[in-house]
Amino acid sequence: MSNSQTVKGVVALKKSEPVSVVDIVIPAPGPGEAVVQVQSCGVCHTDLHYREGGINDEFPFLLGHEAAGVVESVGEGVTEVAPGDFVVLNWRAVCGDCRACDRGEPWYCFATHNATQKMTLTDGTELSPALGIGAFAEKTLVAAGQCTKVDPEARAAAVGLLGCGVMAGVGAAINTGAVTRGKSVAVIGCGGVGAASIVGSALAGASPIIAVDIDDRKLETARELGATHTVNSSQVDPVEAIREIVGHDGSEGADVVIEAVGRPETWKQAFYARDLAGVLVLVGVPTPDMTVPDIPLIDVFGRGGALKSSWYGDCLPKRDFPMLVDLYRQGRFDLDAFVTEEIGIGDIEAAFEKMHHGDVLRSVVVL
Ligand code: APR
Ligand code: ZN
Ligand code: ZN
Repeated sequence: MSNSQTVKGVVALKKSEPVSVVDIVIPAPGPGEAVVQVQSCGVCHTDLHYREGGINDEFPFLLGHEAAGVVESVGEGVTEVAPGDFVVLNWRAVCGDCRACDRGEPWYCFATHNATQKMTLTDGTELSPALGIGAFAEKTLVAAGQCTKVDPEARAAAVGLLGCGVMAGVGAAINTGAVTRGKSVAVIGCGGVGAASIVGSALAGASPIIAVDIDDRKLETARELGATHTVNSSQVDPVEAIREIVGHDGSEGADVVIEAVGRPETWKQAFYARDLAGVLVLVGVPTPDMTVPDIPLIDVFGRGGALKSSWYGDCLPKRDFPMLVDLYRQGRFDLDAFVTEEIGIGDIEAAFEKMHHGDVLRSVVVL
């Protein structure tokens, strides 16, 4: 049996203060747990939300959750993975036993679990790992069900991104939005999440695929990733532009509109940009103070289709991660395009800054 070990990790010690690289203690894996040697971890908005106290007040947080690595050791009863396996981590290890799991919709599982034991600071203070992962660290402790084995030849910095933002975006298109061949899709907001929705739509054979953003750099990337049209919504009315591109008689919109910003005004654009029977998928994460925009109820009544939200792309890691890694390995999914830069564990604050200015799709910590 291995013992606990001390490694470096990035911790938000106090609300709204810069993060610190500190020593953290990783216990030996208990029943159902695994210790993973982290190789890469993307910087996501959610990490910043944790640092700002926007998720909860359970400081200190061990940040990082878009990770890939190698299983170092496993605890009793673990059969999913074994030491040496190359894995992508997920933040929703489903229980397999609740009502959602029983009815065959485990992505709605309400009994997801993480490691039972706690990682700590060297003084014994318990850490709250971001999304139950905490992977801005040389090693981390997770539930074995949070590990999904994928092709070990794949580049860690790229496939780790499937652990959160990229999966959310792809899944919003192919799982939640049920995008299929020939459907028209508009994606509002083409950051890491929206760009992934564009890839998902392209993989599914959608056409046209309309990218909407206020930043021309994002629109350029979107086109490289498969968008057939781009709309800069700071210059033109995106609803009119989408309707025009989709065609018909000018009165209808896209079959699927994906909102990947997480703001009321863009949700409203998405609402009106969809076809009468279209699907609106909200995947951008709103803040708790935001409300549904003021839309006449008659406009809701006057349309069929569906208003949906996509949580983690309604994904099943065991099904979706290996599939997407295979598509990446085959050259059909340019995951490398999402890795704007590789950084060190001490560069997280600079990465938050770049994220804030929209300079990156993803900064990825490589260990
Ligand atoms: N209209 C269109 N696009 C917009 C608008 C707007 N009004 N405001 C911002 N955007 C664009 C930005 O230019 C950027 O390209 O939305 C994109 C957001 O992308 P990122 O900041 O990279 O965020 P991402 O990681 O893609 O996450 C999307 O989900 O996790 C949440 O907080 C996150 O709200 C964000 C969303
Ligand atoms: Zn369940
Ligand atoms: Zn994330």
